[in-house]
Amino acid sequence: MEIYNTVQTLQQRLYQLSRAGEKIGFVPTMGALHEGHLTLILDAMEENDTVVCSIFVNPTQFNDPNDLIKYPRPIEKDIQMLQSVGCQILFLPEVEEIYPKDLVEPEFDLNGLDLPMEGAKRPGHFKGVVRVVYRLLDIVKPDSLYLGQKDFQQYSIIAQMLRQMNSRIRLVRVPIVREIDGLAMSSRNVRLSENGRELAPILYKVLQELEYYVNSQPFPIPKNALALAQELFHKHGIENIDYFEIVDGNTLKELHSFEDSNFAVVCAVIIIDGVRLLDNVILFEK
Ligand code: PAF
Repeated sequence: MEIYNTVQTLQQRLYQLSRAGEKIGFVPTMGALHEGHLTLILDAMEENDTVVCSIFVNPTQFNDPNDLIKYPRPIEKDIQMLQSVGCQILFLPEVEEIYPKDLVEPEFDLNGLDLPMEGAKRPGHFKGVVRVVYRLLDIVKPDSLYLGQKDFQQYSIIAQMLRQMNSRIRLVRVPIVREIDGLAMSSRNVRLSENGRELAPILYKVLQELEYYVNSQPFPIPKNALALAQELFHKHGIENIDYFEIVDGNTLKELHSFEDSNFAVVCAVIIIDGVRLLDNVILFEK
């Protein structure tokens, strides 16, 4: 795997590849890779000639400076994992490469997509995500960008940014990769205690129950679906629910009736052992 630390050396290489007519797929990450990330890389490899993965712990998307300091950086292990799946290029820049002093950055109208859910819990987070993804896309100039469905709100916001840029980059939403018991893969899962790890799969079970309710009832109602979820969490002793919302998948606005939407998603975060577990299920997409 080729590793580049500077924008200039990476771009020199990418220029050669694009002159040779190669299609470039891009997978941005913050490292601490797990199987979910590798699935993004593998999907990108299937659809492109060369895959660029970036590992950059982006300081501008951390609203809590302690989180930034504590963020895991197992770079040797990450490199091995990328090599094991055959990723061709790793971009591993320092902060100064991504945010040089003279950088000119555009402003995007996120159409309110950054306000609910994660946006309300982590003010400024999505502004930082948009800044870094814009900058990385401007450097890599890929044909396709691969993002995980797990961060559904992030995916929607980047889709909005690309629309505003009139970008020709194809955005690919890669389904959530789960452990055998259904827990969505995340770098945070290792911070769960033994008990917490046993409890954690309840989140996906509740989301599945909701999906079943919505798709099996003749006239499902979001309010009833949410009440059902509340009851199930309570039954399993899970009380710390950060948010649990049924939203329109395009606007991220809360749905009061399923008839108002052709794309409904339930997004949730519960907290176990102080760890925020994020998950979502697409209820329907017509
Ligand atoms: O999802 C992530 O890991 C990050 O938010 C991203 C997209 C790599 C931007 O830093």
